[in-house]
Order: sequence, then C-alpha cells, then structure tokens
Amino acid sequence: MPQLSLNWNNEAYVSLHLVQTMLQIAGLPAQSNYSHWIPEFKIKVPKYKNGLLIEIDKEVDFLIEDYSRYINFLVEVKPANNRINDAARFQLEHYLRYSHTRLGVLIDPFLMEIHEYKKGYLSLKCKYHIENPHDVRPVANFFREFLESVRMRTIAIHTSKGGVGKTTLVINIAYELAKQGYKVLVIDLDDQANASLSLGVNNADDLDNASSPEEFEQILNEFEYRKEVSEFMRDYVRDDFDYTSYIQPSPLNHLLNMDVCNGRIDVLPSSYKTTDYALAGAIGNRVKRLNNAIQKSKMANTYDYVIIDTPPSATDITINGLYAAQYIIIPSQMEYLSTYGIRAIIKRLKEVYEEMDGKRGIILGVVPMMTEKTKLNTTIKKLLETTIKNIPPLLTEIKRATSVGQASHERLPVSVFAENSGNSAAGSIAKQFSKLTQELIARMNQIEFTTGK
Ligand SMILES: Nc1ncnc2c1ncn2[C@@H]1O[C@H](COP(=O)(O)OP(=O)(O)OP(=O)(O)O)[C@@H](O)[C@H]1O
Ligand SMILES: [Mg+2]
Repeated sequence: MPQLSLNWNNEAYVSLHLVQTMLQIAGLPAQSNYSHWIPEFKIKVPKYKNGLLIEIDKEVDFLIEDYSRYINFLVEVKPANNRINDAARFQLEHYLRYSHTRLGVLIDPFLMEIHEYKKGYLSLKCKYHIENPHDVRPVANFFREFLESVRMRTIAIHTSKGGVGKTTLVINIAYELAKQGYKVLVIDLDDQANASLSLGVNNADDLDNASSPEEFEQILNEFEYRKEVSEFMRDYVRDDFDYTSYIQPSPLNHLLNMDVCNGRIDVLPSSYKTTDYALAGAIGNRVKRLNNAIQKSKMANTYDYVIIDTPPSATDITINGLYAAQYIIIPSQMEYLSTYGIRAIIKRLKEVYEEMDGKRGIILGVVPMMTEKTKLNTTIKKLLETTIKNIPPLLTEIKRATSVGQASHERLPVSVFAENSGNSAAGSIAKQFSKLTQELIARMNQIEFTTGK
C-alpha cells in the first residue's frame, strides 16, 4: 500500500480530491440537466428509544441522481485512517433500506466498493482497488463502466405521420426483448391507447363485445378513476408517489416461458384521458414531467428497457416522450411525403439532444415499414440514405404482410401469431422483428461503448 500524505486522513479532502473529481470525470457533474448531487443527504431511520419507536435523521455523504441512466445511488466517503469496514457496510445497508435506494458506493483512498440492496440484504456487486488516489481517471473509468452495466434504457418510437406502424413496432420489439429475458415497461402516450389495448390492459375484449353504445360507454367510464400515464406524470411530485400502482402486467407474460426466462412486459397504460389537458395545472416543467416521473419512481431498479409509444401529433404529451427517451426509433413508410416528415422530426430531436447535452434524443435509426418490392420503395430508400445527413444507416426493414394485421387483430405479437397459426409469411416477419431487435441492441451497445453516454 503506498504511503499517502496526512491530507488523506481528512474526509473532506478525500471527498473533494477523489470522490467529487471521480464523479465529474465519470460524466456526472454536480448540477446539470441530467445529474444532480445532494450532499449530506438526510435519511429517516427508525430507532427504539425508551421503548418507543422514533425516527432519527441520518446523513449520507451524497445522493447522486443520474437522470441520464435514470438511477440514483448513495455515496459514503471514508478517510485513510478510518477505512471501509463492516461497520460502514452495515450502516450503508441501513441507509439503502430506508432511502429505498438500490445502489450504494463506499469509497476510501485505497478501495471502492459498490453494493446493491436486494431482498433486504446488502450484496457486493464489485470492488476496485485504487492504486493511487491522486490519479482519479482509472477509478472514474471503472465507475462509468459499472454505471453502464446497470442502466435502464429508454426508447421512444416516434414520427409525425399516423398509421405507419409505430405501435406495431412497440409491441413486437417489447416482446422480442422480453423473450430474451429483459424486463420491459411499455409506456403508452397515445390517447387512442392502441398499445394498451394490444397488450391486454384496456379491456379490449369487453369493448369489442359490447352490445350497445351504453355498455361501451360504461366500460370506458371504468378508466375514469384508474391511475394511468397522465396521473403518473402528474403525481410524481407527491411524497407518497408509488409508481407500481400505475402499472399493469400484460397478460402476454403468460406466453413467456418463465422457467427459462425472467423477461416480462408491464404497461403504463393510456386511455382517452391522456391529453395535454390532463397535465394542465400540474407543477413543474411542462415537457419534462415524464422524464422526472421516471427518475423519481426509481423504476430503473426493476426494468431493463422502457419502450414509449407516441401519438403522431406534436402535443406536450408527445414531447414529454421525446425528453424522456435516451433513444428514438423513427418508423417510416417508403413514400415521398414520409421523407419530409422525417426531416421535421430530426430537427426537433436535435433541439432535445442539444438541450439535454446529448443524453436524450439520440436517433437509433429509421425503420423502413411495410416495404414492398417496388421501384418507388427502392428509390425512396436511396433518397433517404443520401439526402438525410447525420443519421445512422437504415435499420432492418419490416415488409408488408397481411399477417401483421391479423396478428394485431388477435392482439398478439407477430412471433406468437406465427407459432400459433403456422403461417409462414408471419414467420418471416417475426424473423425481421427479431433481427431488428438485435440490431437495436447492437447499436445501443456501440453508442454507449464509443461515447460513454
Ligand atoms: N408490416 C406490416 N404489414 C402490413 N400491415 C401492417 C404492417 N405493420 C403495421 N401494419 C398495420 O398498419 C396499421 C397501422 O399500424 P400501427 O397502428 O402500428 O401504426 P401507428 O403508426 O401506431 O398508427 P397511429 O399513428 O394511429 O398510432 C395497423 O392496422 C397494422 O396492423
Ligand atoms: Mg399507434
């Protein structure tokens, strides 16, 4: 162990020269659009005193809110003469439990330990031996790589044109991810609620079978008091906000073989209530409410992917989707007019990207939808590739097939419909969705690897 100057026995010195510098180099400044440090963060811890259960305030050195990855973590700093030990770990376990935070970092001038609070216990996720605390860069690099490994990814599917297959992409990509063992949350921002209906959380069968307009109305009325996406975006500022009461499991989870895969799909549903009007009067930034609510909910402790379905309109609700998503997928049919729509979206996303310092609005690519073997299709593809600058190459295309409509009519992902029906055209579309999903994961890995986002 190297001999260090006595300065390192001073906790404030360790905090400033090692911990705060590390956070900055790892891309988490003290105050920005996407990160926030709360020093001396207070946590209420229950304690027995004279036979009575009381709450006392304890202080942890930092709570770091990392909006770019939607995670929070606690940091406890130790000086060289009072290093990380079991007492410090025990204390961290307490802090994590009572602050409902998943991750905690213990750090002294020789060692960094990253712990996870899981099922009531502290479990060590990784540790890093610090060779020289004056050389912060290697510690910061290790820390950044760790953060990448626990991030939740958020993806919005958006374009300003209606009926191009946005919801179809949402359902099928979500299902492909869940099949691979990922925990997926679909957030429906469309008041038409097609994603919520397809994922089985909006009484679609009852609505289909309603025998009179009155019965139909009655079923819709049931949504009036349901907590759904607009309430989620309104209520997050409340102290008793618990995101799980807004979320519904999709019945499609029964189709995922839970023995071999832990993947699942939950839905933050929408209904006719999801309008800008529902957000009127709520406090906080108008277009960043979804972003803030996701962060406040701590859902990154649970989900690997959040897929956001958007309406084609440019309402505040839609813009909330763009500010909440790290990545954007733009579906487009291969028609001349669609290429104009793409330019408008790219311009809007550039503003989001710049305002959010590159942590939001990253375009993963354009998915050519419902393609056919026509000369026009080929021409438009070429036009897109050559005239729209600064976007990645086109993603895997999804061909036109009537089986996609049949699958959505049965409210099934195409791969399940293909298996059930033995329809070979559906089988080939299912393969395209699977290939597209792999390609999306590869692109995100590549972006995160090269830019450290
Ligand atoms: N590859 C495909 N081949 C044939 N039909 C398709 C294909 N993809 C989607 N469709 C059909 O096109 C219609 C519109 O798709 P979808 O609802 O996904 O579009 P959208 O962009 O979400 O629409 P909106 O803007 O209304 O939300 C649906 O009936 C769907 O089944
Ligand atoms: Mg839709």
